[in-house]
Amino acid sequence: MQTAHTLDMLRKEVARLRADGSTFGLVPTMGALHEGHLTLVRRAREVCDHVAASIFVNPAQFGPNEDLDAYPRQLEADAAMLKAEGCDLLWAPDVTAMYPDGFVTNISVSGVSEGLCGASRPGHFDGVATVVCKLFNQVLPTHAFFGEKDFQQLAVIRAMARDLDLTQPHVHSIIGVPTVREPDGLAMSSRNRYLSDADRAAAATLPRAMKAAIARFEAGDAAAPALAALENELLSAGFVSVDYAVLADSASLVPLAALKGTPARLIVAARIGGTRLIDNMAAG
Ligand code: PAF
Repeated sequence: MQTAHTLDMLRKEVARLRADGSTFGLVPTMGALHEGHLTLVRRAREVCDHVAASIFVNPAQFGPNEDLDAYPRQLEADAAMLKAEGCDLLWAPDVTAMYPDGFVTNISVSGVSEGLCGASRPGHFDGVATVVCKLFNQVLPTHAFFGEKDFQQLAVIRAMARDLDLTQPHVHSIIGVPTVREPDGLAMSSRNRYLSDADRAAAATLPRAMKAAIARFEAGDAAAPALAALENELLSAGFVSVDYAVLADSASLVPLAALKGTPARLIVAARIGGTRLIDNMAAG
């Protein structure tokens, strides 16, 4: 596996890997890799001839009081994991390679980025859309792989790639990969390592309470009482607050009052200790 830290190095490697017109998958990450990321790499290897991963802790998607400085950074360990999975290329730029002096562009996707995490983390999805657009133009993948755990992020990226015509020159397909979970159901996340033992045990209430809410939606209950019960259960288990718990249309992410026979998703963000957890599950 080659590692590129500069755009020049990256371009040479990309040209080499793409020379025979083969398919080329990109797995964008912020590092601190876990089984969820490695599942994306494995999926990319099944679908594509060559696979690149990127590791870049993107300052543009963190708010002023968020965990940018604390975000785990472990480039060597991550590189070893990617190599063991058969990744061909690692793109690991530093902040000045990604945002050189004078960088002034911002990509803002309206609609799908506005509610949910967009409301509780202002500017977050602008930062995601901007860096992912840059990654697509830098790496020129034919396929890109993202975890469904960040369901709204996936919707924002699909909208950005469609609207900026990135799907024609190179990124033909953006593939969402189902969330990988711990044995007790907690969705894997690089931020789970922030949890104390007690909070980690209580965090398993989140997927359990979500499944109970989905069972109620599917039994015909309206969204509001089932979501209120879900919030109460999280707060009783020791969650500090619930940013949102929403039953939403899977495509538009517009909130639904009840299931109506079209694909829907239960999407939740809640805080435990100092950590904000997000999760989502299909409903109906
Ligand atoms: O999901 C992530 O790890 C990040 O948001 C991404 C897509 C790599 C952009 O920085």
